[in-house]
Amino acid sequence: MVSTEWWRNATVYQVYPLSFMDSDGDGMGDLRGIVQRLDHLAGGPSSLGVDAIWLSPIYRSPMVDFGYDVADHCDVDPRFGTLADAEHLVEQAHRRRLRVLLDYVPNHTSDQHPWFEQARSSRDDPYRDFYVWRDPAPDGGPPTNWLSAFARVGPAWTLDPTTGQYYLHSYTAEQPDLDWRNPAVREAMHQVLRFWLDRGVDGFRIDAPHRLGKDALLRDNPADVAHLRIATQLDDREHRSMGDPFVHDVLRGIRAVVDEYPGTVLVGEVGVHHPVRRLAYHGSGDELPLVFDFGFWSNPWSADAFRAGGEQMGDVLAVGGWPTHALSNHDIPRHATRYALRQPDPSHADEPHLGASNPDPSQPDPRTRVAAVMLTTLPGATFLYYGEEIGMTDVPVPAELATDPNGRDPLRTPMQWDLSQPDAGFTTGHPWRPVPAAGLDVATQASDPGSLLSLYRDLLRLRRTHPCLVGGDYAALDAGPEVYAYRRSAQGATLVVLLGFADAPRHVTLDGLATGRVLIASHGPTPGTPVDLAALDLEANQALVVELDRP
Ligand code: NOJ
Ligand code: MG
Repeated sequence: MVSTEWWRNATVYQVYPLSFMDSDGDGMGDLRGIVQRLDHLAGGPSSLGVDAIWLSPIYRSPMVDFGYDVADHCDVDPRFGTLADAEHLVEQAHRRRLRVLLDYVPNHTSDQHPWFEQARSSRDDPYRDFYVWRDPAPDGGPPTNWLSAFARVGPAWTLDPTTGQYYLHSYTAEQPDLDWRNPAVREAMHQVLRFWLDRGVDGFRIDAPHRLGKDALLRDNPADVAHLRIATQLDDREHRSMGDPFVHDVLRGIRAVVDEYPGTVLVGEVGVHHPVRRLAYHGSGDELPLVFDFGFWSNPWSADAFRAGGEQMGDVLAVGGWPTHALSNHDIPRHATRYALRQPDPSHADEPHLGASNPDPSQPDPRTRVAAVMLTTLPGATFLYYGEEIGMTDVPVPAELATDPNGRDPLRTPMQWDLSQPDAGFTTGHPWRPVPAAGLDVATQASDPGSLLSLYRDLLRLRRTHPCLVGGDYAALDAGPEVYAYRRSAQGATLVVLLGFADAPRHVTLDGLATGRVLIASHGPTPGTPVDLAALDLEANQALVVELDRP
């Protein structure tokens, strides 16, 4: 695989702005705070060494869905700072050769967006058709059987009493869906892209693109799928509230705008499990270059599952797309919690994402080290979620503070910079979400060469510099049960990556491969240690990156 554009081999670090760093003591993270911590990410000898940051939404917002309810696409929310702060952040990031991706939320706005405030003022308002309005059903109820993606919300329709019609919302009632079949919406939302591209951003993560295609006639969902709320549950069945082929027309339009700015990229949060259906979002190379792989992060902790997912990378390449890998983000329990080797806390048995009990909270779960090796050595773009570099787990949030409409508070807690300081150095004020008093932090791990943070740093250095990882071919190897092994080859060199998923030692025999030297180990042998791949004892939860002596 030849990597030309920067994003093909990029490591993108997702910053959740409310929780990354607070600069002004109001307890909420902000853009100046992000600038203060940029050196953690890139630009210096001790930086993590990522290539880009993706900021979850920074726009003006009532924060009902924590910024995914945008009230002004062309301004920064005062909690985060000002437009000038955003420009400063882009400039400071670029100085460190760090690209900046913003979150683009095309499916809906906030109900406090001026477009919607106008639209709901009268049936004749020029902005009325920016949104999707329908008369009530004959019984006065919602016009179709469509449901919101969020179980707590119920129907995807809310009656607007002033004008006597229902409006559509795929998420909360405070997030009315835009109607992209209206050319004026398309034009206005294209201008939003240009607004930020003109300010130097390097691309966008596109929120929920599969929601942009809705049945043109807004017909009821078939009875057998009407109860399913999200595309990941649908497999290959049809749902009329999303996935309509019209979406491809919209995405081609967005891509054409972004292509006016060379060196930019799009990554789509296409919430579809079905691998073949997801391929369609690459278009014929004219829609989304990158699409998140929902299958990858949904895998159980199993070598077979990840290996089978790896088989699909060829299909992505065949349609002109490029593979992506991520294990955590702001919507799913952190993988350090999901895959924890240790038993979940029984007091949270009904809600496993509320945190696993950890007998030694100062050490990340051993599986996070194997996951780090996998994420950084597979071909394609890799996405890290803030805090995963230190093995952060979900943090229980007391019920009175848990305000997310979909229960995601525990996985969005403040970054743990330095636990020797109040609130881990995240804020000098009162943090908007709790910070644990003990556990994992950047300060401790930064000075420990054996830490998870140091492992990520070493892996990312290798990923940026070793030809086999920059652009090498990929081939899976048969290494026996509970081991996912693959080869990356380029320019006459070959790396073999061995990922041990077993909680016990495994004897590995890689037929036809001879000897090599360890470049990086999750734990155990130091770099340079010779290994015999024809007969190797892999320790429990161990991962090795080995360079073959004779490729
Ligand atoms: C997907 C985002 O990742 C999620 O956080 C949000 O709630 C929905 N889309 C709605 O924008
Ligand atoms: Mg602040």
